[in-house]
Amino acid sequence: MMVTNKNYYLNRRNFLKLGAGAMVSSEAIANEILKLKDLEPSNNEYAYNYVNFYEFSTDKRLCVKLAQESKLNEEKINIEISGLCENPITLTDISQFKEVNRIYKLRCVEAWSMNLPWSGFELRELINLAKPKKEAKFIKFTSIFNPDIFPDQKGYGVIDYPYVEGLRLDEAMHPLTILATKLYNEPLKAQNGAPIRLVVPWKYGFKYIKSIAKIEFTDIQPISSWEKYNPNEYGFYANVNPNVPHPRWSQSSHRVLGSFFKEDTEIFNGYGDLVSFLYNDLDLTKNF
Ligand code: MTE
Repeated sequence: MMVTNKNYYLNRRNFLKLGAGAMVSSEAIANEILKLKDLEPSNNEYAYNYVNFYEFSTDKRLCVKLAQESKLNEEKINIEISGLCENPITLTDISQFKEVNRIYKLRCVEAWSMNLPWSGFELRELINLAKPKKEAKFIKFTSIFNPDIFPDQKGYGVIDYPYVEGLRLDEAMHPLTILATKLYNEPLKAQNGAPIRLVVPWKYGFKYIKSIAKIEFTDIQPISSWEKYNPNEYGFYANVNPNVPHPRWSQSSHRVLGSFFKEDTEIFNGYGDLVSFLYNDLDLTKNF
């Protein structure tokens, strides 16, 4: 039997990737995740002050001021978990989950990046607690809706509120996907999505929904806020991909905040070895 031909080798590589993803507790993937700590965090000035939070404002700096003065600072974790699951709960206590610390690169669809040190827990822990039913194929996330907190939720907003995001269940179960409650070892600041937000490092930043109030298991693909706003520009998957330009700009490189230089953008934001197996059957140019 020819075991050294290229196809066999490539298939084996795919198999290994699949194995690493499927057996998510394996030592291999744990080691890969540990290596991510080698990233140097960006200066926290950027994370705290260069912010997208449309519920406050489309102006990045004004967002910060309004968020810091807002009642969002008083909100405690309170997520209603419902839909196609055996164990619907209201999550207020996260001490039952193992804390993880991850330095991930955030690549915004606007073509800039920064390295952020998050703390939180793997979303799959929460999913396992909720016990999704067999029919559940997706997770829908919804941000807090409260016009007393968010000025842009009064009357007509820039986008439709509440802010909604979604993941396929297998993406949500991936060990890289976390719910973050801290940034730079401090509780999330209001402008960064207090009290709890999503972090999915191989996707564009707009998937990282802030200030989560609701998580639902569904059998239909959720329509995320940006997809609803303009489906030709913002797809459901939003995997970082240098080969699929945004209709109005290239995605092949990006500005690294805090550096003079631009950097080439990597497929899946550099996390391809760990996540590309999720998309073996998908045309990434159509499912962008
Ligand atoms: N979540 C909510 N609820 N509202 C928003 O406007 N903006 C998204 C995402 N999550 C957004 C949101 C976008 S476009 C990005 S790039 C990231 O949050 C930015 O996160 P940061 O401001 O903490 O860097």
